[in-house]
Amino acid sequence: MVETRRIDGKAFAEGLRARIGKEVTGFLAETGVRPGLAVVLVGEDPASSVYVRNKAKQTAEAGMASFEYKLPADEPEAAVLALVEALNRDPGVHGILVQLPLPAHIDAQKVLATIDPAKDVDGFHVVNAGRLAIGLEALVPCTPLGCVMLLKHELGPLAGLKAVVLGRSNIVGKPVAQLLLREDCTVTIAHSRTRDLPGECRQADILIAAVGRPEMVRGDWIKPGATVIDVGINRVVGDAGTSRLVGDVAFAEAQGIAGAITPVPGGVGPMTIACLLQNTLTAARRIQRATSS
Ligand code: GUN
Repeated sequence: MVETRRIDGKAFAEGLRARIGKEVTGFLAETGVRPGLAVVLVGEDPASSVYVRNKAKQTAEAGMASFEYKLPADEPEAAVLALVEALNRDPGVHGILVQLPLPAHIDAQKVLATIDPAKDVDGFHVVNAGRLAIGLEALVPCTPLGCVMLLKHELGPLAGLKAVVLGRSNIVGKPVAQLLLREDCTVTIAHSRTRDLPGECRQADILIAAVGRPEMVRGDWIKPGATVIDVGINRVVGDAGTSRLVGDVAFAEAQGIAGAITPVPGGVGPMTIACLLQNTLTAARRIQRATSS
């Protein structure tokens, strides 16, 4: 039986944020520009409110300017679009993030399409998704970026490895598959209609679970020695009425089978905000380069 390593995303993210903080200081000294991130939250979804609070705190800790826009749940779509347009024009804002999900009366695709692709630090604009797909410089979605950073830290070069991505969302599944392809992995995207899901997963040297179903991936779906990245964050209520967070992978069952696995919490989650800060600095650098030449 192998000893399964625990991939400590929390520690990795702390190190990454410290490095970004130093780079922000250097960039500010060199250019006089402080990178700025604007976060737009419509409504009061409790999970989204927690994310947004953490984002604002960590943005400020990294030495960046943080702008928060909290709008009521019934804010008209036109007002949200007008705010995004104003942020596009604002020279102090280098990154714009509109927290998803948006209330049902707002067309999320329309809002995302209004964000200037140069400030699209979520990488959700079709221009950035397309640029990633054809191998051009792009702003890349944060959670996929965090997954691939952890994988490269754990495994070194990923070329030739067989990766199975479980889930095909625009936020995680599709972009993480693109990034793994860019790293020369052989990539399969599996989903709810895949035949023999366990069999597909058992082929994977790298298994990325991003389906949002608590503990769906069982121990016997994992190839011995595989590296497992668990993107799921699911709140489940136990017998005593207390709730706890679990991933998409049955973590206890993976012990002794997987070579390494990210825990939930403390795995991929902390990497997302760190990568958001990284994208904001990247956007600020590119905007600065474009406007000073
Ligand atoms: N909601 C859940 N995850 C995300 C994310 O990465 N970005 C945005 N904008 N909204 C989210």
